[in-house]
Amino acid sequence: MTKGYSEQTAGAKLCIDLASDWGKECISDLNISENVILMDYGAADGGTASEFWENIINNIHEKNQSTEITLIGNDLYSNDNQALINNLSIQSTNNELVKTFLCAGSFYDQLVPSGFIDFGFSATAMHWLNKKVENLNDHTHVLASNNQTARSDFLKQALYDWNQILDIRSQELKIGGKFLTVNLSRDNENRYLGNNGGKTVNVHDEIHAIWKELLEENIITETEYQKGTIQNFYKSPEEFISPLINKDSAAYKKGLRLIKERTVYVDCPYKKKWKVNQNTEEFSIGLMETIRSWSRHSFISALDKNNHANLNPVDILFNRLTKRISNDPENWSLDYVEHHLMMEKV
Ligand SMILES: C[S@@+](CC[C@H](N)C(=O)[O-])C[C@H]1O[C@@H](n2cnc3c(N)ncnc32)[C@H](O)[C@@H]1O
Repeated sequence: MTKGYSEQTAGAKLCIDLASDWGKECISDLNISENVILMDYGAADGGTASEFWENIINNIHEKNQSTEITLIGNDLYSNDNQALINNLSIQSTNNELVKTFLCAGSFYDQLVPSGFIDFGFSATAMHWLNKKVENLNDHTHVLASNNQTARSDFLKQALYDWNQILDIRSQELKIGGKFLTVNLSRDNENRYLGNNGGKTVNVHDEIHAIWKELLEENIITETEYQKGTIQNFYKSPEEFISPLINKDSAAYKKGLRLIKERTVYVDCPYKKKWKVNQNTEEFSIGLMETIRSWSRHSFISALDKNNHANLNPVDILFNRLTKRISNDPENWSLDYVEHHLMMEKV
């Protein structure tokens, strides 16, 4: 049976937990009235943020115990939104002052009325490109490749998307409202999820090496090899804050301002566990499953379905990945580099 999102991504919850202090700060600066509207953008099954929202709700009620709170969970229509409703309702069950709602749709669209949100939050959801960039033909991830043309095209699209996300959020926020983002990022030493600066292998180089093996063994075609591209981009701190300091950006013009930003690091929880229990089978499967949870669709969508009646190259890819990890566990780890950004609408 396939595991749910929260079970597959132990690291994502740790990243959210590290933002709890800034969540609390956002609430302490808010003008808390009779009603407060909260929104979680790109929440997946909502399980990783359950504790975060419980704390936020407590923070609000510490300021005003009769405030009525609305918590809206958002994700795409294709998400497991039943699981999201279940996890959201943990906050409203047995608490008459809290109501929970699901808002299915893309955060590239305006999702709620203008001037509606008091506190918006999003974790590990805003690194996927909104439009495919097609020219990365010699690697599966642009940041691990040496392809400067593709890198510049990915960056351009990523900044276009980020400007759009912030523009729409500034439209949705009330004046005085806060928006806190926790996003996968690239630090000043070019470290990012999958590249911890050489402490262990670059996960993206390994994925690419296997994908190339499949081409060399004629399991996939040249076209499928080239189409196998993970369509995301991990932005630097400067790239994240750029729409907030550029006075000509749409978000800035609508009043969205930078309060503060920081980069945080989360060591691979699977590796941490392996160091204690030395259970290599559990480690290699757990690590492969978390990598597969965010990369599988990129490879599935690269395949020409007519070519693969009997064999599924994507299954082979992840089987080989598990083997590589289990043959050399010491040399594998998936460490997170996350950027925290606190914003306010003035
Ligand atoms: C890695 S999960 C993060 C989930 C959760 N926020 C966490 O930190 O554990 C990313 C989620 O973002 C959602 N997502 C991606 N693009 C989105 C979009 N344009 N609009 C809404 N949700 C989106 C995905 O469906 C996925 O559930």
